[in-house]
Amino acid sequence: SQSACLLGTVLLVSLAGCAGDKSILDPAGPAARDVRLIWWVMLVFATLVLIGVTVLWLYAFKPRNVVRTPAQERRIARRWIIGGGIMLPVASIITLLMFGVSAGQRMLPLPLGEPPEVIEVIGHQWWWEVRYPGAQGGEVITANQLVMPAGEPVDFHVSSADVIHAFWVPRLGGKIDMLPGRVNKIRLEADEPAVFGAQCAELCGVGHAHMQLHVEAVPRREFDAWLTARQEVVLRELAVADATHDGARDAFKTHCASCHQIAGVSQGGIGPTLSDVGGRAMLGAGVIAMEEGAVSRWLQHHQTLKPSNKMPDHGDVETDTLDALGAWLEALSP
Ligand code: CUA
Repeated sequence: SQSACLLGTVLLVSLAGCAGDKSILDPAGPAARDVRLIWWVMLVFATLVLIGVTVLWLYAFKPRNVVRTPAQERRIARRWIIGGGIMLPVASIITLLMFGVSAGQRMLPLPLGEPPEVIEVIGHQWWWEVRYPGAQGGEVITANQLVMPAGEPVDFHVSSADVIHAFWVPRLGGKIDMLPGRVNKIRLEADEPAVFGAQCAELCGVGHAHMQLHVEAVPRREFDAWLTARQEVVLRELAVADATHDGARDAFKTHCASCHQIAGVSQGGIGPTLSDVGGRAMLGAGVIAMEEGAVSRWLQHHQTLKPSNKMPDHGDVETDTLDALGAWLEALSP
C-alpha cells in the first residue's frame, strides 16, 4: 500500500501541473489547441507502445518446447525486425509528423490580408524587453510585461541581446528560440482577453527560473489605448512624480540612469526600461508583485530576491534615498 500511496502522490503532483496560467493542457488560442492535441496523441501512443513492449517482453519469458531450425528462427526474426523495427516506427513517425507539421504551419507568420500587429520581444539575462514598432506616434518600449490584442493573430519577432533564451506562452502555443543576431517569428492568438504566464524556456544562466513574463491579452480598443498611454501619459506621470517626490529624479540620475531608460530622463539601455514601471504587475521579471513599497524593497533586497541578477547591490545607498527612488518610480504608472 506504501507504493500505491507513492504512486497516488506522484499522480496528484503531476496532475497539479495541468492547471494554472502556464498549462499547455488549458489552451487559450488556436495554436495552443493544436499543441494540446499533439500532447494527447503522443501520450496515448506512448502508452500503447509501453503496453505492447511490456507484453512482448513478458511473452519472451514463456517457456516453450518448440524446436526450430536455424532457418525458421531467422525467418521469424526477420519478420519482427521488418514489421516491429522498421514499418511500425516509420508509420508512427509519419502519423506524428502530420500532426506536428499542421500545428507548426499554424504558428508560421504567413502573409495575411490584414497584416497582424507585430510585437518584438528581446531576451536579456534575465528579463524581457518588449517593443511595439507599429505604434502610431513612435515605437513603444516596455519590459517584463507583454500586452497584446485578443481575438486576432499577433506576430512575435523574437531575438536575444546576449545568450539563447526561448519565448514560451504555454496557453497560447509552442515555444520559439530567441537567438542573438537572428530574428525568429511566431504567430500566436489569444481567443479572449485574459492574463497568461510565460517563461523563458531555454536554460540561460543562474536567473533562468526567474525569467518570467506577464502576458495580458486585452480587447483591441484597450490595446490601442494602452499604447497611447505609453507615449503620452508616461511624460505627464513623470511631471507629477517629480512634483511630489522632491529630489528623487536626481537620485535616479546618480544611481540608475546609466543602465535604465526613462522617457524624458535617461537613455541607459543595459537594464529594463522603467518609464512605466509603476504600472506593471510584477517586478524583477516575475519575482515580486508590484504593490506599495515594492520598488524600495526590491532595491534593498534584489540580490536576495533574485540572486546573481546583473544590477549592482545598493548597500552603499541610504535606505531613505532608496525609499524616495522607489516611491518616485512607483508613481510612473500610466
Ligand atoms: Cu532566459 Cu532562460
